[in-house]
Amino acid sequence: MNKLTTAAGAPVVDNQNTMSAGPRGPLLLQDVWFLEKLAHFDREVIPERRMHAKGAGAYGSFTVTHDITRYTKARLFSEIGKKTELFMRFSTVAGERGAADAERDIRGFAMKFYTEQGNWDLVGNNTPIFFLRDPLKFPDLNHAVKRDPRTGMRSADNNWDFWTNLPEALHQVTIIMSERGIPKSYRHMHGFGSHAFSFINADNERFWVKFTFKTQQGIANLDDAHAAALIGRDRESHLRDLYDSIEAGDFPRWTMYVQIMPEKEAATYRYNPFDLTKVWLHEDYPLTEVGVLELNRNPENHFAEVEQAAFSPAHVVPGIGFSPDKMLQGRLFSYGDAQRYRLGVNHHQIPVNAPRCPVYSYHRDGAMRVDGNRGGTPAYEPNRHGQWQEQPDFREPPLSIEGAADHWNHRVDDDYYSQPALLFRKMSPAQQDLLFENTARAIAGASSEVKARHIANCTLCDPAYGEGVALAIALHDEGI
Ligand code: HEM
Repeated sequence: MNKLTTAAGAPVVDNQNTMSAGPRGPLLLQDVWFLEKLAHFDREVIPERRMHAKGAGAYGSFTVTHDITRYTKARLFSEIGKKTELFMRFSTVAGERGAADAERDIRGFAMKFYTEQGNWDLVGNNTPIFFLRDPLKFPDLNHAVKRDPRTGMRSADNNWDFWTNLPEALHQVTIIMSERGIPKSYRHMHGFGSHAFSFINADNERFWVKFTFKTQQGIANLDDAHAAALIGRDRESHLRDLYDSIEAGDFPRWTMYVQIMPEKEAATYRYNPFDLTKVWLHEDYPLTEVGVLELNRNPENHFAEVEQAAFSPAHVVPGIGFSPDKMLQGRLFSYGDAQRYRLGVNHHQIPVNAPRCPVYSYHRDGAMRVDGNRGGTPAYEPNRHGQWQEQPDFREPPLSIEGAADHWNHRVDDDYYSQPALLFRKMSPAQQDLLFENTARAIAGASSEVKARHIANCTLCDPAYGEGVALAIALHDEGI
């Protein structure tokens, strides 16, 4: 029998009519079911992610197909055929939780591998690089691309004013304005860990590593006109595509590759390998195949599993570590901090976030602790019970670091343009035309000063890039 109860389990006797003093009378405070129903409703909205608010998630697995144990001792890579369960969330970045999917924007590509040594979160994007080199500028980036404080509207002027003042952003801006700027769906795009991370092998040797995921569905994109028409009929096109394809048994797959750099080569590589605005060229560090990621199960509940998912670059496992990339270092703090605010201090207990291996920790109490709080076990260490001690066997090899503490100017490296130039010159004339036209449409609402600054940056990258953008802007402004 389907019986309605209150949250406390008591029968609800009437879910259609409030209790009032007479048929036309005011309501009675003793209608506790009405009070409970409204009070719960009043608290249903939680803060959205500060960026990447709109997303879609799915469960799946990662299977190793190639041996990389000479680089890492991480058990998820320990043998060919090894399978690890995972949860993944894709997202758009600038739009809010209710934004349309088919917008020109980067896409989030976040993975949570439930390994036997704890969760490994690789929180990447569909682009191999990013706008910035220093995390101090990240809040500014988001303030510039999100809504204007006065008008409450998105502002092309704010957006491009900021981007064009940061010449190192041109590489990322070129990708967003290119034909890849609006993926057709989350299934039809590559994914990247973007930062340099580290691998530690069984001999405790360190390698620098970058992760790439190539879509097996093939790359497919929308142009501005098709995207606008699609948004007119369906604001959830990415979410729907992922959900429907998994429901239909058409499971999306990506091939994982790594680029490996021996630790010492970081000092002599022609680019700073820890600069997130640059790639490691494939000719210098080729892609090594590792395995296959497949998504094959939709969540049962979007809020519980997708909205409450909490990914953090700080979540690594033995054999995988961080790097000196300043952006990565900044992210190590920001995600857990945001999630303690967005979901609460015990968000790691929410089933989608909970590790699938035993957890032994001395954290206690806090809002919404729901796992029994470790009962009567000691909550301090060291203790006389020999309970839960640190594991020095997993200590990483020391990393040499040098230099005096200062606010070092990251603009000492002023090579902003050589890599966007490589990208621009790899494009066919038709792809370059699309880049010019997409840029002209996107920058249309900006001031002439900002447009001129962008044209100047493009010209420094490649005179043909500057010329093409200048012409496209002129034609767009004349309404041609
Ligand atoms: C989400 C901060 C750069 C990918 C977030 C969130 C914060 C944040 C606070 C919301 C987390 C939450 O509420 O759960 C930062 C900072 C950055 C940075 C401070 C730079 C200093 C990046 C970069 C990438 C990236 C470089 C990709 C390579 C993502 C993704 C999400 C996200 C995919 C959504 C994760 C999900 O699906 O839940 N970021 N971010 N972020 N960020 Fe970043």
